[in-house]
Amino acid sequence: MNYIGSKYSLLSFLQKTIDTVTNLKDNSDYIFADLFAGTGVVGSLYRRKGYKVISNDIQYYSYVLNKHYIANSNPSDNELLKHLNNLDGIKGFVYNNYCEGSGSERNYFTDDNGMKCDAIRTELEKLYNNGEIGEENYFYFLASLINSIDKYANTASVYGAFLKKIKKSANKEFKLELLPVISGKKGKVYNTDINKLIKQISGDILYLDPPYNARQYCTNYHVLETIAKYDNPTLYGKTGLRNYEKQKSKFCSKRTVVSAFEDLIKNSHFKYIFLSYNNEGLMSLDTIKEIMSTYGTYIQYTQEYRRFKADKEENRNISADSTVEYLHCLEKEI
Ligand SMILES: C[S@@+](CC[C@H](N)C(=O)[O-])C[C@H]1O[C@@H](n2cnc3c(N)ncnc32)[C@H](O)[C@@H]1O
Repeated sequence: MNYIGSKYSLLSFLQKTIDTVTNLKDNSDYIFADLFAGTGVVGSLYRRKGYKVISNDIQYYSYVLNKHYIANSNPSDNELLKHLNNLDGIKGFVYNNYCEGSGSERNYFTDDNGMKCDAIRTELEKLYNNGEIGEENYFYFLASLINSIDKYANTASVYGAFLKKIKKSANKEFKLELLPVISGKKGKVYNTDINKLIKQISGDILYLDPPYNARQYCTNYHVLETIAKYDNPTLYGKTGLRNYEKQKSKFCSKRTVVSAFEDLIKNSHFKYIFLSYNNEGLMSLDTIKEIMSTYGTYIQYTQEYRRFKADKEENRNISADSTVEYLHCLEKEI
């Protein structure tokens, strides 16, 4: 998925640095926590490396993706994929609220693709509730639906707005495609605020990848949240936002970010803590260094990084095409 802040292209930098700092061996019983998990790429990497992974995100679509990547062991695809792809479209929540043909005045998907998404989402819920598919397959197919439908979205990159005219990739006929299955130990996945969760867990490596700026994930990915939950929410305004009060992140506000971060470091029961952040984030490098150094031995690593596509499109005044990615490392005295 093209996700704001995805660490997909920084994986080798992260892995190299984390392995150098910790010197822990793969395939041992170590616990790796990825608590701002997003698409789940970092947790998946450490699951593959033999760690027991704890994953968390405040967004439900991310929980669904991570339930699949981190906690599924051997779901089967057999005939179900064919069955779901052969369903006739229906006029459900997606069509009625995110497609122009329904009169919603929102153009997130073509009418046909919206109806197809409704048919698959409805059928999955029915099969799960009737006990015809188990939890592993439910999250396997639901995660695959979220990942697949995102490729047909008629947006510039996120769901903060839709395009007036249907773009080429959104006009293709929607087809559900299955995500890869990650091998390794079965991990644990949460869907809660990190500052609450941190007091209840412990482990060896804590990886933190919070939002860097004021852009909230709940408003930029609200359509995926609703497809994942399929809970018939009341929608507001031109772009059809759902109520997001409980998912607003303290890490997206200059007023709250420092105390939320300090609370996190103070209350974490992990020997090694790694924070991804860039040089344009809400917290300054000095603030991060000062907070982390209070709790043990601190060191930082850097890597130059290409700017996220939406940042370039939305803010044409940005002159530099790249930012500096920091990995702040702490060996905590516990
Ligand atoms: C920079 S993204 C993480 C990207 C992820 N590492 C990846 O590679 O896909 C930040 C994530 O933190 C989540 N988030 C923001 N505030 C949170 C909070 N207070 N508790 C838990 N998750 C939060 C967002 O929903 C978002 O998915």
